[in-house]
Amino acid sequence: MGLRTKLRKFFYRKKFQPKNINLEIYNQNILITGANSGLGLALTNELLKLNNKVYATFKKNNDNLSKINNENLILIKCDQSSDQEFKKLEDNILSTKLNLIFNCAGILGPSVQNIKEFTFEEMNNVMMVNSYSILEIIKIILNQNHPLQALVNISSEGGSIGLNDDALYYMYRTSKSSLNSITKSLSIILQKEKKGICFAVDPGNMKSGMNPGGFLEASDCAKNILQILSENDHSLNGKFIDLLKKEIPW
Ligand SMILES: NC(=O)c1ccc[n+]([C@@H]2O[C@H](COP(=O)([O-])OP(=O)(O)OC[C@H]3O[C@@H](n4cnc5c(N)ncnc54)[C@H](OP(=O)(O)O)[C@@H]3O)[C@@H](O)[C@H]2O)c1
Repeated sequence: MGLRTKLRKFFYRKKFQPKNINLEIYNQNILITGANSGLGLALTNELLKLNNKVYATFKKNNDNLSKINNENLILIKCDQSSDQEFKKLEDNILSTKLNLIFNCAGILGPSVQNIKEFTFEEMNNVMMVNSYSILEIIKIILNQNHPLQALVNISSEGGSIGLNDDALYYMYRTSKSSLNSITKSLSIILQKEKKGICFAVDPGNMKSGMNPGGFLEASDCAKNILQILSENDHSLNGKFIDLLKKEIPW
């Protein structure tokens, strides 16, 4: 790593280092999607420590989740790229009352996203996992009448249309812009039906399977997101923010 990158990393980490953390999320029933790795796994660990019950979904492998020995952890297989997979989720949450959802599942899509090689199949897959699947999940939540207080959609600055200056990963960008638009609609629906909130948050440049060179630890991003939620700030409803609650342009 060159000196310039080292310095960038140092200042970036300093900016987003969790400060004044006072987490106030206890005894809740929480759904976390994409929970076997990265941010989803970090949120799962933090929320279990706070004595919450976590319904953790995974695509296929649950190797990381299955190492956690905690009776408050319920594992549910749900590949969000397939509309056939949501029935299991529906059945597994029927007998609980979910209060919170962290929607972390996400993919970058093909490693090379050259418009000259565009395929509907690849695009549909990215859209389904990163964006449309939350609609199916919320349909289940509303039909089962869960007392949902908050839905946190893990978005990305890459979904900002205003900040797009390179068109790289246009499939990913489009899916996160779509997720942002869905967030806005769901913020209105959840406010009306549940007096709940829904917002989109960019976890920042975070080290994970998706971004191995990321600057922030997933556990620090998780703490920042949980702190935001702990503040019970209803003015965040329908917003697209970073880890410091600063609004990101749509
Ligand atoms: N890392 C960053 O710098 C960064 C920046 C901005 C936004 N984000 C967003 O943060 C969220 C978490 O990503 P991460 O960085 O923590 O990466 P990650 O470790 O790759 O987490 C993504 C999770 O989504 C799951 N997933 C993928 N396809 C799925 C499917 N078809 N059905 C269900 N789950 C599926 C993955 O499961 P498998 O591992 O089994 O495939 C994985 O557990 C994503 O929404 C990502 O877009 C990340």
